Amino acid sequence: METVLSGIRSTGHLHLGNYFGALRNYIKMQDEYNCFFFIADLHSLTTHPHPADFHAGVKTILCEYLASGLDPEKSAIFVQSDVPEVSELYVLLNMIAYKGELERTASFKEKVRKQEDNVNAGLLTYPVLMAADILIHRAHKVPVGKDQEQHLEMARVLARRFNNMYGADVFPEPQAFNFGSDLVKVPGLDGSGKMGKSEGNGVYLIDDEKTIHKKVMRAVTDSGPTEPNSKMPDSIENIFTLLKIVSTPDTVAHFTEAYNNCSIRYGDLKKQLAADICKHTLPIRERIEEIYNDEAYLHNVAKRGRELARESASATLKEVRAVVGFKSF
Ligand code: ADP
Ligand code: TRP
Repeated sequence: METVLSGIRSTGHLHLGNYFGALRNYIKMQDEYNCFFFIADLHSLTTHPHPADFHAGVKTILCEYLASGLDPEKSAIFVQSDVPEVSELYVLLNMIAYKGELERTASFKEKVRKQEDNVNAGLLTYPVLMAADILIHRAHKVPVGKDQEQHLEMARVLARRFNNMYGADVFPEPQAFNFGSDLVKVPGLDGSGKMGKSEGNGVYLIDDEKTIHKKVMRAVTDSGPTEPNSKMPDSIENIFTLLKIVSTPDTVAHFTEAYNNCSIRYGDLKKQLAADICKHTLPIRERIEEIYNDEAYLHNVAKRGRELARESASATLKEVRAVVGFKSF
């Protein structure tokens, strides 16, 4: 059976981009694959969260994973820092990752632009730690959104390079995965590119109905089409992209026709979009609240996840160490 692994950083709540870009695939994959899903708390340290908030960030993602439908009976659900083998593989992979290729990563260049006062080495080697997360479980498939494609390519490069350098077939080359075949990019509602935490344009799984309606009603639109079948501006196309993700094909067809014959009323479109987002998220929101207070359950989930992940990780690391040439006296 093929192995699947993915994770999300513990910085804030999960939004529709995380859910439809990544999590929904995790949930579907649980029945068909050997699955590992984790909370990337080490990765979140690049932005220096306050120690008093650090654990709460991890707990938030764990609860939101479980509430969304990740099943600890089917998947290993664990915290990255609970598996120290990852950090050791990260050190080893850093020896074969070159400064130039890391500096060329789009995500690194973006961080340099956005947080120029905190360009730490952890940011530079972010894709190496991510490769360690994946390779330590010898994962074949990695369900992620479109923005992670380049990181996956780096994981493949490092897997290949390691195998070649040591003349051993230790790591398979991991592939990015989406059930709908194309990787998904969920747009923001502000007319800009993707929905994201750092973009400040998120609709969150934890948002209540009123908040969701408010955010959707505020979405950027224009004064409407004046000629039949005209091309949509980006902000309107974004709304339709979201509608395609959360609504039925009939609803999408109805509003597409209304746009094409210039009878569309954006207020109606937004009301429908908000209602359909709520259908997906409100049941999750309810479960988040229940799970959040169940400390014993969370403890058991994380413990079982840690045990499964460490078992898999230590088997790989043992082989890696032997191949690299470590020997004990
Ligand atoms: P953010 O961009 O909010 O910081 P992360 O980078 O932590 O979110 O992403 C976690 C997962 O969610 C990744 O697999 C990523 O590809 C996916 N993801 C995040 N935003 C989007 C989006 N707008 N569309 C599709 N997938 C997304
Ligand atoms: N970089 C991913 C993100 O920002 C999070 C992540 C860390 C990850 N390690 C991973 C995703 C391993 C998939 C596999 O979303």
